[in-house]
Amino acid sequence: MEEKILYLLKKNENYISGEEISRSLNITRAGIWKHMQELRALGYDIVAVPHLGYKLVSCPDKLLPAEIKFGLKSKILGKEVIYYDTVPSTMDIAFERGLKGAGEGFVVCAEAQSKGRGRLGRHWASPKGKGIYMSVLLRPQLAPSEVARLTLLCAVAVCEAVKQATGLQVSIKWPNDLQIKGKKLAGILTELSAEADRVRFIVVGIGMNVNTTVSSLPPGATSLRHELKRNVSRVELTKLILREIEQYYVLLQKKGFDPVAQKWRELSITLNKRIRVHEPRGFIEGEAVDIDTDGGLLVRSDTGVIIKKMAGDVVQIH
Ligand code: BTN
Repeated sequence: MEEKILYLLKKNENYISGEEISRSLNITRAGIWKHMQELRALGYDIVAVPHLGYKLVSCPDKLLPAEIKFGLKSKILGKEVIYYDTVPSTMDIAFERGLKGAGEGFVVCAEAQSKGRGRLGRHWASPKGKGIYMSVLLRPQLAPSEVARLTLLCAVAVCEAVKQATGLQVSIKWPNDLQIKGKKLAGILTELSAEADRVRFIVVGIGMNVNTTVSSLPPGATSLRHELKRNVSRVELTKLILREIEQYYVLLQKKGFDPVAQKWRELSITLNKRIRVHEPRGFIEGEAVDIDTDGGLLVRSDTGVIIKKMAGDVVQIH
């Protein structure tokens, strides 16, 4: 009901009478008052004036479903959004819901994560109300071996969203590190539920340091606030991210991986560099020459052999 009241308040730039809300939503005046109090507790500034009614003065920059869904331009992503104040990891919630049949485009957002995780079992710092911590469920027609395409696709989409929101140029370090001037701004984690030859669903986790102070981040990380010296609306950025992922996802379905791969190449800071790829057991060195049709990184080793890497940690060497 709160979402419906908010929608009415947002649609009306001026006062809306209690009578009109009551008529539109079929609730009592006492019911309206109770919901208004609940919205205020969430951070909405709502004034109530006798004989005029209610007016929304400001909204909190929280990743609340009503905020994300209002004016959201995507059709699939964000159709259902759930929200937590604090959660161990949005990945686990999305995965559980995926197993129970949640539809494509289901989104889980949180203000904070107590056990946010990154690739290769790393911790993802998720201080409260500062970043975007979100998991998106997709049900693509892909073989498990092609899932890396989606990680690259999401990396491209998130770069585009940041550029649109802030004008900042973000680059991609293979496979999924989003960097500004060599410092990590965001990361993408893909987890999947699959049979031998068929993906049941994929959960794409996006973590971004938005209004985070760098002192609460690991060394080598940055945030949008740190780069711009001002705060950025997490709600608006989240909407843009969902819209961009959807656009590239539709493009992938219609035109295949080529256009996405091309965009990835343009944003990459890994290609044409001499790199070392760390693996659980050792490392390989060579020149990063391209990405393959399945999203793997092609590395030309010093002996001239082309090796494909599907996972690992890349370090640029000189
Ligand atoms: C990485 O760069 O290693 C990937 C980081 C992914 C972090 C996000 S935050 C939202 C989602 N929930 C998690 O626990 N992890 C991902």
